[in-house]
Amino acid sequence: DTAHVITHALARDTLSRLRDVETEQVGFRKGLVKLGRICGYEIIDGSMETEYVEIQTPLETTMGERVKGLDDVVIVNVLRAATPFVEGLLKAFPRAKQGVISAGRDEEAGMAEGEFPITIDYVKLPEIREQDTVIVADPMLATGSTMCAVLERVLENAPEPEHLFVLSAVSAPDGLIRVGEQFPEAELLTVSIDDRLDENGYIVPGLGDAGDRAFR
Ligand code: PRP
Repeated sequence: DTAHVITHALARDTLSRLRDVETEQVGFRKGLVKLGRICGYEIIDGSMETEYVEIQTPLETTMGERVKGLDDVVIVNVLRAATPFVEGLLKAFPRAKQGVISAGRDEEAGMAEGEFPITIDYVKLPEIREQDTVIVADPMLATGSTMCAVLERVLENAPEPEHLFVLSAVSAPDGLIRVGEQFPEAELLTVSIDDRLDENGYIVPGLGDAGDRAFR
């Protein structure tokens, strides 16, 4: 199972500005919010159904449409870089429940065989139900070590949800393959599949360290 690339022109435009080293902190954070909103709209368009509803305009009764399942959305924020990204997703899914997981790569330990040791400090998740669309958001999927550790926690003691999206802005091929192999039920969504990981585990060309660029 391969990843689905979100190709909306505005997503590509916004990601390009995030990649640009000249984009400073405020612009970077706003860009992530915007990208989250666009990705949210794309998820709705690509995988959520609508139902017909009768509505009354000021003039007469007509048929309208309503997106189904918007009350059954869970967004998981992988701290810290996902915070602005999730803020944007919430504009598309205003009634979503939210989970928070603090997961970080131990970069001092270094990358070994394409993986980083992951420390998880804090996990707070809402109940996940069979009818839910779960979106685990992290702007960067590098080795996939963080995402695999996060998905393990999200899925333990939970039924398999209707949809499980792993959403990132930039991904490395290795990380996508790894997450796809370990969690075949996950639907991988990304705005870009970049060329490679460098020897320090950074995505190249990438956008640098999203957490630092948004918060420091
Ligand atoms: C970055 C990024 C992802 C992770 C991806 O987080 O936001 O969470 O690395 O790398 P991986 O796929 O190789 O695991 P980092 O650990 O730097 O924490 P931060 O979000 O607090 O900056």
